[in-house]
Amino acid sequence: MERGYVVDNNAELLALEQVVYDVVVVGSGIAGMTVAIELDKRLKVALLSKAGADEASTYKAQGGMAVAVGADDSAEQHIMDTLNVGQGLCRREAVSVLADEGPSALEFLLQQGVAFNKNGAAIALTREAGHSLNRVAYHYDFTGRHISETLFTKVKEKDNIQQLTNYFVVDVLTQDGQGCGVIAIKDGKLVVLLAKALVIATGGYAGIFASSTNSRAASGDGIAALYRAGAVIADLEFVQFHPTAFCAPDDTVFLLTEALRGEGALLVNAAGHRFMPEYHPAAELAPRDVVSRASVKEIERLGRPVFIDCRHLEKKYLADRFRQVYTKLTEYGYYLEKDLVPVSPAAHYSAGGIRTDLWGRSSVQAIYACGEAAATGVHGANRLASNSLLEAVVFGRRVAKDINNQLPSKQLVTTLVLPGNNVACPNGDLLRLGVELNRAAGVVRSGAAMTSLLAAITGMSKDGFDGDLGKYTRKVNAFQLAKLLLQAAIARQESRGTHFRSDYPEKNDEYFQRHILLQWGKGVWLE
Ligand code: SIN
Repeated sequence: MERGYVVDNNAELLALEQVVYDVVVVGSGIAGMTVAIELDKRLKVALLSKAGADEASTYKAQGGMAVAVGADDSAEQHIMDTLNVGQGLCRREAVSVLADEGPSALEFLLQQGVAFNKNGAAIALTREAGHSLNRVAYHYDFTGRHISETLFTKVKEKDNIQQLTNYFVVDVLTQDGQGCGVIAIKDGKLVVLLAKALVIATGGYAGIFASSTNSRAASGDGIAALYRAGAVIADLEFVQFHPTAFCAPDDTVFLLTEALRGEGALLVNAAGHRFMPEYHPAAELAPRDVVSRASVKEIERLGRPVFIDCRHLEKKYLADRFRQVYTKLTEYGYYLEKDLVPVSPAAHYSAGGIRTDLWGRSSVQAIYACGEAAATGVHGANRLASNSLLEAVVFGRRVAKDINNQLPSKQLVTTLVLPGNNVACPNGDLLRLGVELNRAAGVVRSGAAMTSLLAAITGMSKDGFDGDLGKYTRKVNAFQLAKLLLQAAIARQESRGTHFRSDYPEKNDEYFQRHILLQWGKGVWLE
């Protein structure tokens, strides 16, 4: 198997002290914490995080978790809505797993102490785009933060889990085509953690775009490391843009949850005209790609922002139900009950990532992926709103189950050699890269702009190594992801879901109802 490394293949590295675990879980958002909690308590688990919990996309998730538990709902209906939004590219079996196991995933979270809002005795359900009925369980408008804090408390109670914070994984180790550990940086020093199984739950790459609802930490580090380790990567071209991001004058990009529109908020253009009914029968609750493209069109047409309009909703209700968003906006002088608030689309979620099977297994033995880092096939060309938290729990639990079943028979690999090529780091600026990605590969893309950006990145000279391996690796990863994303988006010469090309505005089912895959040493292909 061909592969690459950022670290130097040198004797010094191989001589480092090796700390041995049964399982190393990289990433401590909802997916990583679910895996760790569900692993057999006899297993020694390391749960790594590179930054504080508030940097993780889980923490920032506002809307909630889609789950078919409403009186009029069914797994079949949830499946239909997911397939519909995914535009012909969802993997049917994965969507069935997601919807069928949704109620027990909800039960798991309730058992951990997650307090979803209630309507009398029942879980309250709100509406979001693309759902044919109310299906989203929530905790006010900070569902992700609440889940994250609740699971964190549970993780701390488990004696078999060692939480390792501020560990940044540079490379994943493989031996004879099997994952066997990670090389991480802690306090500027390299450490080697060996394990029988590795779980990559490092989140997505929407943070490499300049305008993003994610933190900059969402830079696809785990996906890039697995790409170097030879894993198959899928669907990278599908980056979802959330239509209602508030871009503050201080450059803060803050999500205004879709649940606002689910509860009646409207979108108006700079002339005060409600435009969405002209674009889609579901108006403000059309799938996100439709709302984002319509907003871009209105912004370009009138040369001014579009606005979210909640003025017909009561202040008391808005300030309670949407307490996080409400308070944040007041810091910038906006009051939802009386002001139109300017919004624009921002990169929000990456549907692509490490391709897995239904048990979260990547194409490299003993390496699993789950959450936004994975491409389970659930989302297809566009993700149904609030399916992401559900996917993380459902497939995180499956990963743990598979590891619990397989691990006793696994041998630990302890003799390390690092075959493979070193990866060069382009001498470019990450902020500039983000701006260029927004321009060339944003809501509306064109082959010419993407090809010229890819050529510019490929033609960059090699960056010198200044001794800061963490910074260097982040840069390698962001440029790696940008290149792969551009390669995939250039290859997909059609428009589908979140991927809209001005030069190929139609869907082409005949040729492109397939996935675009990438692998180190193998290039790009369709399957
Ligand atoms: C939101 O609250 O609008 C985001 C929910 C999601 O990304 O599914």
